[in-house]
Amino acid sequence: MNLVIFGPPGAGKGTQSKFIVNKYNLYQLSTGELLRKEIIKKTSLGSEISSTINRGKLVSDKIASDLIEKFISNNEYKNRLIFDGYPRNEAQAENLNKLLSKYNQKINLVLKLSVSLDVIKKRIIGRSVCSICGKIYNEFFNPAPKNTDCCFSRFLQKRSDDTLDIAITRYQTYEKNIKPVTDFYEDTNLLKVVNGETPIDQITKEISALIEGI
Ligand code: AP5
Ligand code: MG
Repeated sequence: MNLVIFGPPGAGKGTQSKFIVNKYNLYQLSTGELLRKEIIKKTSLGSEISSTINRGKLVSDKIASDLIEKFISNNEYKNRLIFDGYPRNEAQAENLNKLLSKYNQKINLVLKLSVSLDVIKKRIIGRSVCSICGKIYNEFFNPAPKNTDCCFSRFLQKRSDDTLDIAITRYQTYEKNIKPVTDFYEDTNLLKVVNGETPIDQITKEISALIEGI
């Protein structure tokens, strides 16, 4: 099965994807995480990506498409992908369908996490990510445990685009582009809207029920 999970910045796409991956033996394909890995390589492509991300805008459709095709074309991930943060506009939604059919695959379920801008601000400002294991925390809602084998405070990192100003621009970018994506998946009856403002484990249960209903 292949899933799409989308929603505004801070909606909980990454948090929920990590649970689903473990429970259903899927692979989380987060275009945001892949782009951040490209930045770390310090290539000229990485510096172009960094400047776009830190302005809260979308990287080009070509860059994003090249990233996802590497995974869609790889048999190891065949029919076990969660697309976290792709597609983000109409062209990407159409491209994803094309790429999946090129490799004899399809999308089985599309999850949209809905969260208001007020909630998003606190989620983004409070977020940190463990640089060792990738776990996502939040100083207000979901702090890192005190007794831990891994996620010590010195390993917790902030993202460079997690400032209030950039978060608001990211939200505006999302709002500007997402309507045709929502319509696209509504038309194919794949879309399920999930309230992203309830507690993390409640959302996980709701998503699990939707997956089991496929
Ligand atoms: P990306 O990394 O995907 O960022 P985003 O879309 O802005 O989403 P986030 O990762 O910020 O939020 P999330 O929904 O994963 O929330 P999380 O689970 O961490 O993309 C970054 C950039 O890359 C984009 O801006 C763009 O420039 C570029 N890009 C990426 N994909 C692209 C594409 N396809 N095309 C072009 N450009 C692309 O949770 C957030 C916080 O909330 C955490 O602290 C968490 O602990 C907390 N939290 C989560 N759920 C709950 C809950 N239910 N209750 C309380 N707290 C919660
Ligand atoms: Mg994320």
